[in-house]
Amino acid sequence: SLIYVINGPNLNLLGKRQPHIYGDETLVDVEAGCRRVASELGHEIRFHQSNREYEIIDWIHEAREDASGIVINPAAFTHTSVAILDALNTFEPPVIEVHISNVYKREPFRHHSFVSQRADGVIAGLGTEGYQLAVRSIATLIRATTR
Ligand code: DQA
Repeated sequence: SLIYVINGPNLNLLGKRQPHIYGDETLVDVEAGCRRVASELGHEIRFHQSNREYEIIDWIHEAREDASGIVINPAAFTHTSVAILDALNTFEPPVIEVHISNVYKREPFRHHSFVSQRADGVIAGLGTEGYQLAVRSIATLIRATTR
C-alpha cells in the first residue's frame, strides 16, 4: 500500500544546510532510502517537500483518500503549527514523526512538538537513517492495524 513521506521547510537544502547538524545526505538520498525500504516491504512511497504550510496540509488531506500511513518531518512547523496537527487529526491510519537531529539536545523552543500530540511514534536524533527506520515501523503498524 501507499505511504506518504512529507517534509517541511528548508529540508530541500538537506546536505548543504548545517551539515554538522543534519548530515551530508541530500533529500534525494533520503527519498531513495525510503523507496528501497518500502519496496522491500511491498509498499509504495509518495515523497513530498514544501516550504509552505498550506501545501503540507493539502498533502495530508490528499493522504486521507489513498494513504495507509504518513511519515512526516514537519521541520520548523513541528514547533509552531496547530494547523498541521489539526490536519493529522483528520487522518485515521498510522503517523510517524521524524527529526534528523535530536531536538531535545537543542534549543528549548525545539522541545515542544504539536505533531507529537497525534503521532503514533517519534524518531529523533538518528540522522537521515531515521526516515528508513520510520518507513519500516510504519509498515509494521499498517500490518497490525489492517488485519
Ligand atoms: C528538524 C528539527 C527542527 O527543529 C528544525 O526546525 C528542522 C529540522 C530535524 O529534522 O531535525 O528544520 O525537524
